[in-house]
Amino acid sequence: LSSTELDLTPVAVGQRVTVTWRGKPVFVSHRTEEEIQLAVAADDDPKLINPATDASRVQNADWLVVVGICKHLGCVPLGQKSSDSRGRYGGWFCPCHGSQYDTSGRVRHGPAPLNLALPPYTLKADETVVIG
Ligand code: FES
Repeated sequence: LSSTELDLTPVAVGQRVTVTWRGKPVFVSHRTEEEIQLAVAADDDPKLINPATDASRVQNADWLVVVGICKHLGCVPLGQKSSDSRGRYGGWFCPCHGSQYDTSGRVRHGPAPLNLALPPYTLKADETVVIG
C-alpha cells in the first residue's frame, strides 16, 4: 500500500523512469558512467549549495532514486524525458523559477535551498527497487 515496486531490468543505462509513491513523483535514473563521474567530481565543489557527496546519496552508483519535487516551491523539475531539459548540470531543471540540479540530484543553482530528497527504498538482488 505505502510502497511502490519497480522492475529495473528494462530500464536501460541512461534512461530515467518516474513512478508514483504516496502521491509523489519519484525519479529513478539509471546513470551513465559519465553521469556518475560528473556527480563524483563535484563532491568537493565549495560552491555546492547543500553539500553532500554523491556516495551519500546512492546505494548503488548506477541508480539514483530521488523525490521529483523541487525543494523551492514544489514544482516537478524537467529532465526525465528529454536530455534537452536537464539544465546546465545534466540532472534536472525546474521550469518554475530556474533551479538546477545535477546528476546526483543536488541543487547547483537556486533558488532551491536543498537537494532533491531521497525516499526510503531498497534495491533488491532480483533488480527491483521497492520505494517506501
Ligand atoms: Fe522549482 Fe521554484 S519551484 S525553482
